[in-house]
Amino acid sequence: KKPIVCVVGSINMDLTVSTKEMPMQGETTIGGEFATYPGGKGANQAVAAARLGANVNMIGAVGKDPFGETLLKHLKSEGVSVSGIHTIPDIATGVATIILTENDNRIIVSSGANRMVTPEVVELYRSLIEESDVLLLQLEIPIETVMYAARLAHACNIPVVVNPAPYQDLPIELVEKVTYLTPNEIEKESMKKHFNTSSNRKTITTRGDSGVQFFEGDEKKYLPSHHVKVIDTTGAGDTFNGALALKLGNGEKVSDAIMFANAAAALSITKVGAQGGMPTMKEVEEFLREEVK
Ligand code: RIB
Ligand code: NA
Repeated sequence: KKPIVCVVGSINMDLTVSTKEMPMQGETTIGGEFATYPGGKGANQAVAAARLGANVNMIGAVGKDPFGETLLKHLKSEGVSVSGIHTIPDIATGVATIILTENDNRIIVSSGANRMVTPEVVELYRSLIEESDVLLLQLEIPIETVMYAARLAHACNIPVVVNPAPYQDLPIELVEKVTYLTPNEIEKESMKKHFNTSSNRKTITTRGDSGVQFFEGDEKKYLPSHHVKVIDTTGAGDTFNGALALKLGNGEKVSDAIMFANAAAALSITKVGAQGGMPTMKEVEEFLREEVK
C-alpha cells in the first residue's frame, strides 16, 4: 500500500541566478544564467515524496497571479493532491531569490501567500492530516500553523517530521509533539542551546557532504554522504525530508529511512532546480544497488 503523506507548508517560485562567486557587500557583479524553478520547502518536500510513490496531500496557499497558477499546475502534474491549497487574491505568490554558486546557495524568501496558511486553513482540511500516515512540516509558514498541525497529528498518533528551516526558536510544545526534527548543521547549532537529551534524540542532522547524524536509541550514529557530481544543491534537504517521510509513513525503521533519504538527496543534487533531480523509487534503488557493487 502506498503511504499517505500530508505536507503543510510553503509554495514558492524560485528565481535563480548562477554565478562563480557570491557578491560582496555593496558589490555588483555580472553573473551567469537566470532561470525560474518551482520551489518552496513545503512543495519541494511534497514533490519529493510523490515522485518516490507516496500519496501526497498538500495544505498551503498561492497568490492569484501567474506564478501561483504555474505552481499549482505543476504540483498537479507531479501527482500532488492540491485540494488543500488556497488561491488568495491581492497577495503575491511566495518567491525565493536564489544565488547559486558551484558549492553553495543563498536564499531569500518573500513569503507572500505562504503567510496566509493559518491555523484556520489547517482546521478546514484537518481530515487530510488525520487520514495520513505521516505529517511533514517546515518553517516557511506561520509557526502557530505548524504548531496547530503538529497537535492534530499528535492527537491521532501520526508521526510528525519537522524540518526547522528557515530556523527559528521552536516552542517547547512543538518539540514535544514532533517525532523527528531534521535540521541542517547550522540550524542544529542554533537549536542546541534550547535542547535537552530527549529532544536531542529526535534530531536527524543533515550535514551536506559530511553526511547525516542521528540517534538509534541512546546511540549516536553517523551515515556518510554519497559522492556525486554536484550541479545544484538547492532542495537536497527537501528531498531528504520527503524521502524520509515516505519511509516513516511506511512504518520502516528510522535508520533504514535515513539511509534511503540520504541516497535520494544525493541524486537530487545532480540536476538543476530544487525539484529537477528528485528521483523516483526505481532510481534510488538502482543507485543503492550500484553503490554496493
Ligand atoms: O529548500 C530550498 C527551497 O527554499 C527553495 O526551493 C526556496 O523556495 C526556499 O523555500
Ligand atoms: Na537539484
